[in-house]
Amino acid sequence: MEVNIRPIGRVHSPYKSREEIKEIAKENIIGEIEIFSEFGKGLKDIEGFSHLWILWIFHLSKGSPLQVTPRTEKNLKKKKLRGVFATRSPNRPNPMALTLVELLEKKGNVLKVRGIDAIEGTPVVDIKPYVQSDKKDKARYGWCEEIDFK
Ligand SMILES: C[S@@+](CC[C@H](N)C(=O)[O-])C[C@H]1O[C@@H](n2cnc3c(N)ncnc32)[C@H](O)[C@@H]1O
Repeated sequence: MEVNIRPIGRVHSPYKSREEIKEIAKENIIGEIEIFSEFGKGLKDIEGFSHLWILWIFHLSKGSPLQVTPRTEKNLKKKKLRGVFATRSPNRPNPMALTLVELLEKKGNVLKVRGIDAIEGTPVVDIKPYVQSDKKDKARYGWCEEIDFK
């Protein structure tokens, strides 16, 4: 089966490299999602949503290991390998990423958003609204429940 995916836009981020973005409070980063003009009509009605899922490509992904030690655990004495599909690692078989952002403003084909964790120039492949059914009251968080993200 062949899957054809093409970028619909790109990220404008204050961060230019993977390393630069590593250590910071990601949920507060303000950036822009520029949607290419040919896809602009698809943004109709988007202002009604406070939050959006941005689907993007880890275009600077390095390799595709099936098990990784998450960055959040690297400082722990007992490092653990986790299955890549139980992590948000940028290095994975298909370099797909998703980020939930808050929509602050729409200016033409540009969405100003809060919560960007992608670097400048990252290709965006889709946008979907955050809807009521995305909220799960009984969620469990696996190994992340042991991590202090502060
Ligand atoms: C842990 S990943 C999580 C990304 C997304 N929220 C997800 O869950 O799929 C975020 C990290 O990816 C790295 N990153 C950002 N943009 C990237 C890109 N275009 N290519 C490769 N790595 C990138 C940065 O180091 C950033 O801190």
